Amino acid sequence: MTTIEREMIEGFDLTNPPDGFAEDPFPFYHALLEYAPVCAQPDGSFVLTRYADLDRIYRDTTLFISDKKRAFLPKFGGDAPLYEHHTTSLVFNEPPLHTRVRKIMVGALNARAIANMEPGLIDTIDMLLDQMDGREQVDLIEDFASKIPIQIIGNMFNMPMADREPLRDWSLAILGALEPTLTAEQLAKGNQSVIDFKAYLKDLADDRRRHPGDPETDVLTRLIESEEGELSETELLQNCIFILNAGHETTTNLIGNALAALHDFPGQKYALKSNPEIIKTGVDEFLRFLSPNQLGNRETTADIEIDGHKIPAGSNLHLVIGAANRDPAQFDDPDELKLMRKPNRHLAFAGGPHLCVGFQLARMEGRIAVNRFLKKYPNYQLTGNAELGGRLRFRGYAKLPAKLN
Ligand code: HEM
Repeated sequence: MTTIEREMIEGFDLTNPPDGFAEDPFPFYHALLEYAPVCAQPDGSFVLTRYADLDRIYRDTTLFISDKKRAFLPKFGGDAPLYEHHTTSLVFNEPPLHTRVRKIMVGALNARAIANMEPGLIDTIDMLLDQMDGREQVDLIEDFASKIPIQIIGNMFNMPMADREPLRDWSLAILGALEPTLTAEQLAKGNQSVIDFKAYLKDLADDRRRHPGDPETDVLTRLIESEEGELSETELLQNCIFILNAGHETTTNLIGNALAALHDFPGQKYALKSNPEIIKTGVDEFLRFLSPNQLGNRETTADIEIDGHKIPAGSNLHLVIGAANRDPAQFDDPDELKLMRKPNRHLAFAGGPHLCVGFQLARMEGRIAVNRFLKKYPNYQLTGNAELGGRLRFRGYAKLPAKLN
């Protein structure tokens, strides 16, 4: 182990990460993978980085659960709106709530429903590309990547166009509250966003009960129709918030990260321009290489041992998806972007019973957005003053300024 590697992992603490980690966690991930794949944390939790460990943990819902009622109590406080939200959404629940909501979502996002969204997605993307025409400089997040999922997810809920603007800020504040550490200001903003979002959705749901939509295409109507006897009003509203958020920042980051990665790998950019078909495998390589969701969590239900570490029941495990997706034991040349990589069984959408419900939709958004962007602006260049979002859990850019021609 080199001195630098030792410094990187000695006393590694996700709640107080070392300098440089938020900007470029990948050298730290490699040091952890090599020398501390199960890294005990000062607060009693564990950071896990190996692909094989994460893959196994995601599949095993007996030993590793998603329920966060215990873990979030000290973080948010039991009465906080953020506590109600995050402990009611399907992603942080076990059956029966998880199964009920997931069934509705899987039904709403079937292959036919996704294919039906394609023409509208292409129109949205082409309109955004046309709006950037002739501009000296654009921000690929503000002007492009962040605008796409808002429309897709807004359409899924048949939400009036004029109502969509606050969605991104609410989503950033609510999902941002899942970061390992939070300031009082971030906590207050997250709580207020849950209150505002829930109030907005209550009105929308009341209106939809009076004027039901087509359950084939309208997820809110689908959820409301399943409400009786299945979901309480709180469960309905909090899961709507989760679904609206889940499909949102992650997909923005997939598109933004892909355009940044292509800039850093001009050979791959050239290959994609010459043969747009390789986006089919390419989209998964973007997801592997710069995973929008870098961290997941599970709680142990029994005393276990991994890599010689005794892990007691009730421990919080930080599953570092971003590291597992760069694990050399699973991927050749993990730090190279190879758009034709195959096989590419990355964990960007996690795995097991909580595998991302929107993964096919997200892939479609990524494929179409990147290829149409590249077709219209093949010579785009980043102008060097990009700003990362600064989060550990969600990796993406806050600003990605570029020249288009
Ligand atoms: C690139 C985009 C996306 C990424 C990287 C992503 C990633 C993930 C991950 C890692 C999980 C599992 C979390 C866990 O169990 O710890 C998840 C769950 C989920 N995602 Fe996505 N997601 C994306 C897009 C979407 C979209 C577009 C939608 C819907 C419109 C969506 C809906 C969901 C839902 C409903 C769950 C919860 C599934 C469950 O708990 O059973 N996601 N996502």
